[in-house]
Amino acid sequence: MHHATSGGPGRLAGNGAVVARAPAKVNVHLGVGPLRPDGFHELQTVFLAVSLFDTVTVRPAEGLSLAVRGEGSAASNGPASVPADRRNLVWQAAELLARHAGVTADAHLEVDKSIPAAAGLAGGSADAAATLVALDALWGTRATRGDLARLGAQLGSDVPFSLLGGVALGTGRGEQLSPVLARRRWDWVLGIAGEGLSTPTVYAELDALRAAGSLPDGADLVSPEPVIAALRSGPTEALAAALDNDLQAPALRLRPELRRALQAATDAGAPAALVSGSGPTVAALAADEDDADRLAAELAGTGVFRDVRAVHGPVHGARLVG
Ligand code: C5P
Repeated sequence: MHHATSGGPGRLAGNGAVVARAPAKVNVHLGVGPLRPDGFHELQTVFLAVSLFDTVTVRPAEGLSLAVRGEGSAASNGPASVPADRRNLVWQAAELLARHAGVTADAHLEVDKSIPAAAGLAGGSADAAATLVALDALWGTRATRGDLARLGAQLGSDVPFSLLGGVALGTGRGEQLSPVLARRRWDWVLGIAGEGLSTPTVYAELDALRAAGSLPDGADLVSPEPVIAALRSGPTEALAAALDNDLQAPALRLRPELRRALQAATDAGAPAALVSGSGPTVAALAADEDDADRLAAELAGTGVFRDVRAVHGPVHGARLVG
């Protein structure tokens, strides 16, 4: 029996399997505006897709079923937090696409996770994006990229970016995207914490800090332009100086040891480090690939992180493998 893997033959794999993968993201700029009546915050964010991928394999089956392997799965060494049932975003993605296309939701889904869950890296969004792309091919639903982006936005604010990849400015609740040109490769080291952070909890902490007057109210957002200009062509120091995340302060409040983690990254020579999204992953900028490898080895030796990964971006969004 042929078994499709991330490096495998994709659409031509045995059992009619279709394989897709999607990347993690880092927000190199995350400006959070006021809370909207719908419970979301108005954002101005710059997403960068980085080379840490989850893979979703879908196969013909009767009804929906799901298996999860790797980071956050029940069988993993780390904290188990990824449900293998209808609570998982990939299950909801399958039902949504089936309804949209007027087909029966028949498929077995396998999610191979490398992106840690509840880490601020959009791992769940990557899984949903890869599922939409894979099932569109398996079911022959012929959804356009625009259709998939609209369905993705119903699943989560970051799903449209997981589909698009590259670099993009996100507005609205993060689902409205305009691509941004980046002429060079950016190397990073991701320092992954032992325990995840809940995104709504971090946003709620930001609201509480603002309500208490400990932080400005969010009416005046910092412009994403310096980050966009730096991303286009560098130099590294320009991006290092422009990195900015409004969720970092509340994440540090909820997880004070993150201060030490950020310090460890700059002590190890990173030009800059910030919390990725709602955290608790620390994204440390590196000068180049060699610097990222050196930084990764040094940070792994500090014992501050559960896992340390050298990555680069921009990389492509969700797409079929093979
Ligand atoms: O869209 P997603 O399901 O990823 O959002 C998870 C939670 O994060 C939301 O329920 C909300 O509490 C918070 N959020 C927000 N503003 C955004 C995006 C997310 O407040 N723009």
